[in-house]
Amino acid sequence: QADVFTFDPGFTSTASCESAITFIDGDKGELLHRGYAIGELASKSHYLEVCYLLLYGELPTAQQLEDFTNRVTNHTMLHEQMMQFYRGFRRDAHPMAIVCGVVGAMSAFYHDSTDVNDPWQREVASIRMIAKLPTITAWAYKYSVGQPFVYPSNDLDYASNFLRMCFAVPAEEYVVDPILSRAMDRIFTLHADHEQNASTSTVRLAGSSGANPFACIAAGVACLWGPAHGGANEAALNMLREIGSVDRIPEYIAKAKDKDDPFRLMGFGHRVYKNFDPRAKVMKESADEVLALLGVENNPTLQVAKELEKIALEDPYFVERKLYPNVDFYSGIILDAMGFPTSMFTPIFALSRTVGWIAQWKEMIADEKQKIGRPRQLYTGAAHRDYVDVENR
Ligand code: SDX
Repeated sequence: QADVFTFDPGFTSTASCESAITFIDGDKGELLHRGYAIGELASKSHYLEVCYLLLYGELPTAQQLEDFTNRVTNHTMLHEQMMQFYRGFRRDAHPMAIVCGVVGAMSAFYHDSTDVNDPWQREVASIRMIAKLPTITAWAYKYSVGQPFVYPSNDLDYASNFLRMCFAVPAEEYVVDPILSRAMDRIFTLHADHEQNASTSTVRLAGSSGANPFACIAAGVACLWGPAHGGANEAALNMLREIGSVDRIPEYIAKAKDKDDPFRLMGFGHRVYKNFDPRAKVMKESADEVLALLGVENNPTLQVAKELEKIALEDPYFVERKLYPNVDFYSGIILDAMGFPTSMFTPIFALSRTVGWIAQWKEMIADEKQKIGRPRQLYTGAAHRDYVDVENR
């Protein structure tokens, strides 16, 4: 039975909720989903199987997995009218703005699965979101690059379908590279859930008011966008590119340590991990493997990342503060090598995390004791005072 956690000595707080989905030991750098270690799931399982585990609590039998996969595969299409919704955005809109808007708009298209008090509607909404987020996300990318939308194909697995919807064009045949598909699936798995992080807590708080599931997940997308959270993968790659070469690393290490400089090493540090983020370890191995298989192992950004990690982990400032690379430090290098622009990194994080948000939302909704969330405050404002007319101020 996991104990109540103290998140930070200077900011001790009891747990915000009880949950049986994900366990993190920040000191040991341990991450379990329903008791299974993330390293084992990333190497032996795959994303839809991890989705089943997060949602239903157990690894599926072969039949259960086949049924679940078929349900997801057969719900990947979007209501055709939603295509018009995209056309209301500017072409240069950030894909996260589009994903956030379209997910919220699902409340307006899928009325028959918005009643949170109906377990069947909750299940339908959950499958619809897991199935449609790849389509929504891929179409946000296509819209941003001015290419025609590509419909999902029921012949492809989840990750391959997403890659094809992103990179296929009508002018030529698109064959999914199994290396990219495996790497994509592993990135989905590594981002699937992560206990009560900021965006998951946002989803829970929104859900506690009885808001419909699509609105709750849209709230999670909005929160994830911040550079201190899911937006860090985009910021980390931009930082590594700005550093550009290993001889410029000391300059950025100094900036990160300078209290008067707001700059922080993006992809470094964590609210809970005071040891290596276990996902970062798997992501680093995956970066080596994928870039070598793609023949770009000498990618300068990867060299900068590895040298930056090495120098930071030997620097007393980072060691004393227990700052290690997190999930966002290497993920952008892989996504960049796969052909994604940095603006697509956080939408891919949101796509992956949708199952975690849904599993946590379902767990909360199913708890009859659940009440609306209502955080309190320490009031630091003026004591009671009488009104003063404007002529006397
Ligand atoms: C994610 O919560 C989750 O689980 C999130 C996530 C998930 O899967 O949902 O894991 C995904 O959001 C990962 C984090 C991605 N963000 C980044 O990589 C952005 C860069 N990192 C930081 O901004 C920072 O580390 C945070 C926001 C992640 C945590 O910030 P905190 O809570 O301020 O960190 P802390 O309290 O542990 O800081 C201790 C000290 C402070 O210095 P002092 O006041 O003690 O002198 O370390 C410093 C901080 O200023 N510090 C950094 C730093 N991170 C913390 N200094 C330089 N570079 C950094 N990256």
